[in-house]
Amino acid sequence: MTFFKTALLHALTLLIIAASTISEGFPQSGGSSTATGATDALPAWAFLWDPTVQVPPPSEAPVTLAGSNVTYSWKQARDLFVALDWHPEAHPAMPDIVANGRKPEIRACGACHRVEGTGGPENASLAGLPVAYFVQQIADFKSGARVMSGPLRPSTQFMSASVKGLTDADIRAAAEYFAGLTRKSLIKVVESDTIPKTGPSRLFYVRSPDGGTEPLGRRIVEMPDVVDQFELRDSRATFTAFVPVGSLSKGEALARTGGSGATVACNLCHGADLKGLDAVPGIAGRSPTYLMRQLYEFQHGSRSGASSALMRPTVEKLSQDDMIALAAYVASLDP
Ligand code: HEC
Ligand code: HEC
Repeated sequence: MTFFKTALLHALTLLIIAASTISEGFPQSGGSSTATGATDALPAWAFLWDPTVQVPPPSEAPVTLAGSNVTYSWKQARDLFVALDWHPEAHPAMPDIVANGRKPEIRACGACHRVEGTGGPENASLAGLPVAYFVQQIADFKSGARVMSGPLRPSTQFMSASVKGLTDADIRAAAEYFAGLTRKSLIKVVESDTIPKTGPSRLFYVRSPDGGTEPLGRRIVEMPDVVDQFELRDSRATFTAFVPVGSLSKGEALARTGGSGATVACNLCHGADLKGLDAVPGIAGRSPTYLMRQLYEFQHGSRSGASSALMRPTVEKLSQDDMIALAAYVASLDP
């Protein structure tokens, strides 16, 4: 870490200590936080996994997508050793590790995270992440300082297996490729008590083919608008995320002010518009399901890398409803 970065982080840490000392003398205001902290159970909806949902055997017939001249098959879409590149003109050349991975264990980064780094609710968007942050995360996954909670599911199992054998050159190439991509605005956040009926949902929510509605409850339900487009791994697939009524204003207050000591204002470290600052990653406009998982992971010590300590004062007093509100608000911002 350069001297400048170290100095910046020290300054921020001092700010936080000062802020939490000041707020100690004041009562929690307005009930914006229930401050139940780590007492809530795993929010299973953010770690979705239903292995009983059957996936039909993939066809080898050619498939096309609106807006693309390329043809692939469903069989290729299920193969994690190839990143389906529907819009080759829209991004720089991919390093081989991103496009194809390396057999037998390293799956193509671009297969899960999509060629333009847009990701999905079941993994992470990578477009525009700072190189230093990216490299640190891979080191944390390798050392076990970053582990993924919830049931062992194909997304986490293959991510863990893929990072193990990466060389420094692979990591650098992947980090630089994803850092150079433009973040896309793909998620519409909608407050609602009632949502389209979900299921059958395996790794991410989909609308039920039977129609109907169900109550949202204390969840965020993020669904691809066109499931086939998303499952065919098109980086242009869009999402609707349903969030509890009142989440956006509650999340905005927490994010901007820290909610009288419930948390720490996010812009101190993530930048004025939460698009990232130096080695601190951008969070604006990213999947609210992903954001929720990360807040949970920080609070439960599953992200314990060197830089993760900076997130500790932000998450330690958050209730799960606070996390839902923060994830909803941050996801609604322009990336
Ligand atoms: C099988 C799917 C899969 C593959 C293949 C995959 N990943 Fe991931 N990746 C994930 C999942 C799942 C997460 C973490 C999601 C979470 O914590 O909620 C993740 C997270 C990450 C993160 C953390 C992002 C952040 O904002 O902190 C980085 C960086 C990353 N992956 C890089 C890579 C690289 C590089 C490769 C290729 C060598 C790769 N991934 C291959 C599924 C995958
Ligand atoms: C004191 C500085 C600081 C403050 C304040 C802060 N963060 Fe962070 N945040 C970080 C750092 C540093 C990381 C990277 C942690 C790591 O390397 O594990 C991070 C990571 C994250 C991540 C994971 C991003 C990813 O790509 O996986 C999320 C989500 C997040 N912060 C949300 C928030 C929210 C929401 C707030 C405000 C309520 C906030 N942060 C306030 C420093 C901060």
